[in-house]
Amino acid sequence: MSGRLAGQSAMVTGAGRGIGRAIAVRLASEGAHVLAADIDEAGADATAAAIRDAGGAAVAWSVDVTDRQSLSRLVKEAVALKGRLDIAVSNAGIMDRMPFLEMTDDFWHKVLGLNLSGAFMCGQEAARQMVAQSGGGGRIVFVASNSGLFGGRGRAAYGASKAGLMNLTQSMAIELAEHDIRVNAVGPGPTKTSAAQGEMPPPSVMARMPMARFGQPEEVAAVAAFLAAEESSFVTGHTYFADGGYTVAGMMEG
Ligand SMILES: NC(=O)c1ccc[n+]([C@@H]2O[C@H](COP(=O)([O-])OP(=O)(O)OC[C@H]3O[C@@H](n4cnc5c(N)ncnc54)[C@H](O)[C@@H]3O)[C@@H](O)[C@H]2O)c1
Repeated sequence: MSGRLAGQSAMVTGAGRGIGRAIAVRLASEGAHVLAADIDEAGADATAAAIRDAGGAAVAWSVDVTDRQSLSRLVKEAVALKGRLDIAVSNAGIMDRMPFLEMTDDFWHKVLGLNLSGAFMCGQEAARQMVAQSGGGGRIVFVASNSGLFGGRGRAAYGASKAGLMNLTQSMAIELAEHDIRVNAVGPGPTKTSAAQGEMPPPSVMARMPMARFGQPEEVAAVAAFLAAEESSFVTGHTYFADGGYTVAGMMEG
């Protein structure tokens, strides 16, 4: 396919459904050859098949982002397919909640291990390949969250993981700029990825949601694609929120 990512090699984790699937589909629609990776092989297969059905280029791959070797194999596969890795999107994450006073060490480590350590290992494996490859360079895009900006009930682990991810984005951007690698994050607000979420965000969210609705995965994917494209060539280290204004809203009455 032609487009602003024509011929580029991209990998997306958590591409089996939700926001990750939308990002994989969007990158492919702009011409990237996508390695759609997920721990859910059937989901990854379905994403890759949908991309190919639409005329794009995609291969499904099984990955567990909590496993360094699995991520190393993922990067190697991207290189085997296209000879290089131009774009790495680290999206896989869990949004599980637990009241702070009841939070177990296992729960804490599960959320931090997947959302933060997984992103660190994915970003590092991708960056090492991007530094080593001929001509160097690349773009890394993380998927953060509004929950990384402020506290939330039951979200001590989740919010900490996403706050850490935004700082990781900044530090990686600083150290990788000299290698022509840009590192940014897209920060979704409440995004409709599951039927269980209902039709509208909960009242406490709606109270400070100027756009008064869920975002769609495709609206997050559009920002991820911008951060992966040459158009954002002077943007690095930032988290760009796609959240209907949720994170800028204060007092809403008056
Ligand atoms: N949906 C929202 O409202 C929202 C808001 C803010 C941020 N986010 C973030 O967006 C990202 C995607 O969220 P979503 O709503 O699409 O979630 P989702 O649960 O619909 O999809 C997550 C995907 O990640 C995969 N995954 C889980 N563990 C994995 C592992 N160990 N290795 C590889 N893949 C794994 C799952 O199989 C699934 O396909 C997450 O990082 C989440 O924190 C979502």
